[in-house]
Amino acid sequence: MKFDIIPTNSAKWWKEAVVYQIYPRSFKDSDGDGVGDLKGIISKLDYVKSLGVDAVWLNPIYASPNDDNGYDISNYREIMSDFGTMEDFDLLLQEMHKRGIKLIMDLVVNHSSDEHEWFKQSRSSRDNPYRNYYHWWPAEKGTPPYRWSWFDVDSNAWKYDATTDSYYLHYFSEKQPDLNWENPTLRNEVYDIMKFWLDKGIDGFRMDAFQFISKDNNFPELPTEILNEPIEIMKYYGDGPHLHDYIQEMNREVLSKYNIMTVAEGAGSSPSEAMKFVDPDRKELDIAYHFESVEIGNHIADFGLVKYKDIFSRYDTEFKDKGWLAIFLANHDQPRMVSKFGNDSPEFREISSKMLSTFILTMRGTPFYYQGDELGMVNPRFDSINEYQDIDTRNKYISIKNKGGDLQAFLEAQKQTSRENSRTPFQWNSTKNSGFTSGKPWLKLNPNFETINAEIQEKNQNSVLNYFRKLVQLRKENLTLVYGTYTLLDRENPNVYAYTRRLNDKKILVLLNFTDQTATYNLNFKLGKHEVLLDNYNDFEKVENCQLRPYEAIIIAY
Ligand code: GLC
Repeated sequence: MKFDIIPTNSAKWWKEAVVYQIYPRSFKDSDGDGVGDLKGIISKLDYVKSLGVDAVWLNPIYASPNDDNGYDISNYREIMSDFGTMEDFDLLLQEMHKRGIKLIMDLVVNHSSDEHEWFKQSRSSRDNPYRNYYHWWPAEKGTPPYRWSWFDVDSNAWKYDATTDSYYLHYFSEKQPDLNWENPTLRNEVYDIMKFWLDKGIDGFRMDAFQFISKDNNFPELPTEILNEPIEIMKYYGDGPHLHDYIQEMNREVLSKYNIMTVAEGAGSSPSEAMKFVDPDRKELDIAYHFESVEIGNHIADFGLVKYKDIFSRYDTEFKDKGWLAIFLANHDQPRMVSKFGNDSPEFREISSKMLSTFILTMRGTPFYYQGDELGMVNPRFDSINEYQDIDTRNKYISIKNKGGDLQAFLEAQKQTSRENSRTPFQWNSTKNSGFTSGKPWLKLNPNFETINAEIQEKNQNSVLNYFRKLVQLRKENLTLVYGTYTLLDRENPNVYAYTRRLNDKKILVLLNFTDQTATYNLNFKLGKHEVLLDNYNDFEKVENCQLRPYEAIIIAY
């Protein structure tokens, strides 16, 4: 049914694609060591294909000592031994392409591992040729100007290194020293690494922590009034003076030579800043992945639907005519989508998961959909710090403990906010360890795997899984859902998110009830007369005019 007329020059495969995110550690283990691996992914490619998705974004699989689960890379041209070998990778890529699935790799070049050869050289002496690959502050200049660090127990991004009597910078953990992008030799090294993978035939990069690559290398003192305001401090970190010069250079040197897609994580702190990364006239990147919609708060009940709608609508307005956005509600750094934006109680888990999937698949922007959300997987709610592996949670815990803070309150909050909530192993079936591994899983499974898993849902036509598949097909058959303009309706409604997508003479209305109560929408619209393309209750004729049942989602063509 692809007869819609697409605006000239704007059609791109990556706009029409649905991207599925695979967190390799937790997807499927093939060798019983308890850690997911590349062969495991290969064994599940038919499942991935069956979802209907077009591309996979794979979290880092490069050699790494795993201080931050692969986001600390010690060799950019090798595969992490936990995950397999380069032969496994080549086979994975081949098998994906055979099935028509593209592969997007993570590019983590704001920092490397401290075990990377570059850093070993760099820290060995002040006149080593690799010294300027990183940021060093000689101790004779005094204590370096304070910078916040995400994963440091003392939240201090400068770490003293006795060998050369200097401090090095690490925005993330102390095992993740920041690379110095001011150095053109380093930039060229990065471009060579990118070419290495692109020449293998991969289809794009997700650019990790990219707004941080450019820094003011003078490191001015931070104004004292913002020291306790992480959000304010951020402005002194990202979007450095040469950020866009570097990305344009990368585009000229590498990206423009390949037919690939690039997606920038955390692009900009406002819609207009995000646009700068992906405005086609600026020749930088393709898709902006902004954080406002996930950083809005911990639970939909706390921040409210109107605020949430306004964020998406503000971004859409900026991106109406050019540029392109990613639409996502979860990833490996976020809690489970249904536990944050829906309702993970037994009564509403399925219906609200379906509602949220409807949202992701009907919005304007490329859907980035996180593994396990198609089953409605939920936060595991770990009770003890020993159940967490993530450096973020563990180091924050130590920091609170050192300060004599309230550890119980912290652990309680982590049940809703920790990154580990989304990292528990994929729930394949009801057998031991849910079929994820025959060994001891690296992270505890959610005990609910006996009732929530792929095998059970395969057999049920009305499962969350099969509903997701229908949504993906619907998006493919209706380019209105890809390219159509987005218009928010009934803005003030605190319960219902209603919008239209319109392309030429085609119009689609989406109605989503974000609450556990019956909700009313204020539109002059009689449901009965129109074609319902999909609804998550599967019996839409029961719908009363202008009323939606709890977490109901309806897609209507008219
Ligand atoms: C990104 C990744 C996150 C990682 C961080 C540091 O935000 O998504 O998982 O910890 O960068 O590399």
